[in-house]
Amino acid sequence: MKEHSTITTEIGRYFLTDHIREMVNFRATRQSLGFRPPPAQKAAPPGSRIIPLPNRETWSIPPCDLQTAIAARESRRGFSSEPLSLDELAFLLWATQGVRAVLHEAAVLRTVPSAGCRHPFETYLAAQRVEGLESGIYRYLPLDHSIVHVRDIENLPRRLAAATHGQGFTGRAAIVFIWAALPDRTEWRYAEASYKVIALDAGHVCQNLYLACEAIGAGACAIAAYNQTLVDELLGVDGYDEFGVYLAPVGKIGEAP
Ligand SMILES: Cc1cc2nc3c(=O)[nH]c(=O)nc-3n(C[C@H](O)[C@H](O)[C@H](O)COP(=O)(O)O)c2cc1C
Repeated sequence: MKEHSTITTEIGRYFLTDHIREMVNFRATRQSLGFRPPPAQKAAPPGSRIIPLPNRETWSIPPCDLQTAIAARESRRGFSSEPLSLDELAFLLWATQGVRAVLHEAAVLRTVPSAGCRHPFETYLAAQRVEGLESGIYRYLPLDHSIVHVRDIENLPRRLAAATHGQGFTGRAAIVFIWAALPDRTEWRYAEASYKVIALDAGHVCQNLYLACEAIGAGACAIAAYNQTLVDELLGVDGYDEFGVYLAPVGKIGEAP
């Protein structure tokens, strides 16, 4: 086996192990040196349009039995033309990145776990059919349970399909969740031992999206096959300090393509 491996194979398999931890000097991390943690949430630019979301006390979301949701979960790629309501979007955002408690600036607990409580993701939304939302790119502000309008995009369905290597169902979704990583948040605590745990963290977020979708008659499909440059362009991020890592189109269940 080993004789067929390339340097990329070696790096990839090494990434999946935890050998890196033996090499990191944890006494020299920015946390250990007393630096403040990076902010838990990227600030909304001054003057940007903020849309507050309904919360658990006010939204109208039917209860859903966990066993039923787990048993029914599947990757769904067929979406109907029915829009999502703002209540439903608020519920999905809460399920994936909602804040449970703010203990202190380095410990903001959410509805999903995260290594070292670092929560390295921003959630971008390519909204196409959400009641009360114009089409465009938005971003979730978990500390405020609001979304901020980021930018309008012409031909959004076509841009989404192109950004996912022609996976056309992405362009037909009511909304596409696009998670961007800000590695700095995790590096503050774990330095070079950050990268595998960031990848692990993303899985929990998307699994909660899958299960929450089952509660509202919607479907989701995880997407890891995407064009890095096109996704980062869509979000307007620099591709180094912040870059897309994972996507999931969501819509009310329709016929599979
Ligand atoms: C990390 C990850 C990446 C995936 N990427 C894609 C993708 O790019 N396109 C796609 O159609 N499905 C993608 N999927 C969905 C898988 O194909 C799907 O989970 C698998 O076929 C099992 O089906 P199920 O989710 O219905 O159980 C991905 C799933 C995961 C967990």
